[in-house]
Amino acid sequence: MVNIAVLGYGTVGSGVVEVINTNHESINKRAGDEIRIKYVLDLREFPGDPVQEILVHDFDVILNDPEVDIVVEVMGGVEPAHTFAKKALEAGKSVCTSNKAMVAECGSELMQIAREKDINFLFEASCGGGIPIIRALNASLTADEIDEITGILNGTTNYMLYKMAREGSDFADVLKEAQAMGYAEADPTADIEGYDACRKIAILSSLAYGKLLNYRDIYTEGITKITPQDMAYAGKLGMTIKLLATSKKVDGCFYAMVAPFLLGQDSPLYSVNDVFNGIFVHGNMLGDAMFYGSGAGKLPTASAVVADVVDEAKHLHRNIMTNWSSHPLNLKPMDEVEGRFFVRVRRESAQKALEILGASRLLTLEELPDEAAFITSVMTQGEYAKRAAACEGILSMIRVKD
Ligand code: HSE
Repeated sequence: MVNIAVLGYGTVGSGVVEVINTNHESINKRAGDEIRIKYVLDLREFPGDPVQEILVHDFDVILNDPEVDIVVEVMGGVEPAHTFAKKALEAGKSVCTSNKAMVAECGSELMQIAREKDINFLFEASCGGGIPIIRALNASLTADEIDEITGILNGTTNYMLYKMAREGSDFADVLKEAQAMGYAEADPTADIEGYDACRKIAILSSLAYGKLLNYRDIYTEGITKITPQDMAYAGKLGMTIKLLATSKKVDGCFYAMVAPFLLGQDSPLYSVNDVFNGIFVHGNMLGDAMFYGSGAGKLPTASAVVADVVDEAKHLHRNIMTNWSSHPLNLKPMDEVEGRFFVRVRRESAQKALEILGASRLLTLEELPDEAAFITSVMTQGEYAKRAAACEGILSMIRVKD
């Protein structure tokens, strides 16, 4: 019997209980032992819910119970999640989590403790919802030097952009829908400002490149400035707009960023719609690979958490997470990163701006007679900023994914 304790009975925590109860037979078979939920920790009461029988309000009950082998942290937020995870590991209990904020902030420390204790700190559900991307990077793509990860890593914003593009929905309305469906963070600012995707690309990059990418070093821009007019231009170009999180090696040096991008139909990420996530990985031997699946929500996320529980039950006294270093990954300055830029500009300044920014053709929309738009030639971000400063009437800019 492997006893587990679940910290937090919110969207993901209740999903973990549901997954284990629904699939207990096959889960136990795969774990090679019976997985039993001994405790659920939450400050609230849940009258009428059978969870009430195993509900505790004090973490020390779990910490001091030698029968608890695995602690499942699904509370979210850095504290007190980090303190609980650290204490559990120090007490010799493996920990698994869906908490990307905690992994991005404290992953090195927690993995180090797990290594020293020969137990595990696993975090499959922290990136890509139910997609097994952490395991793929850590255990499958081990023959390659990975040189690019580009993903749609936030289900909430992907759902919102999809609805805005397809149905012309209002930003605030679709955000409410995403919240109601359990996709969004407790504070949805983390989704719409790109912070959630930023932490996820930091985690994936740290695993893939074997050096620690500090999420604070990643240039991050959210989707709050994306308008239905931007979507209309994208549609006219046969493109769409997605929030991409990317890290890539160019000339021996990595850059990383999170921002909305215009992308064309030839991109493997173009058709990643709704709440789905898609993660493109390029390896020097493998070439291209795509990982696709449900990116957020109760059961997909819980499915990934429980997969970690099974792995930890199979390796109760053997550390299995390897490729994570605390040596920093230094990034190329954003000014030196090259790309093309979609620019909207006032109609009277459009021709001049087009020449300064090296674009070839003006694009107009009937419903926006006072402006025009174009896509620039390839240049560094620094060069773009310099040339844009010399233009009049620029209304907005969105990067273009090549
Ligand atoms: N708020 C997150 C998202 C949840 O929308 O992707 C899954 O990490």
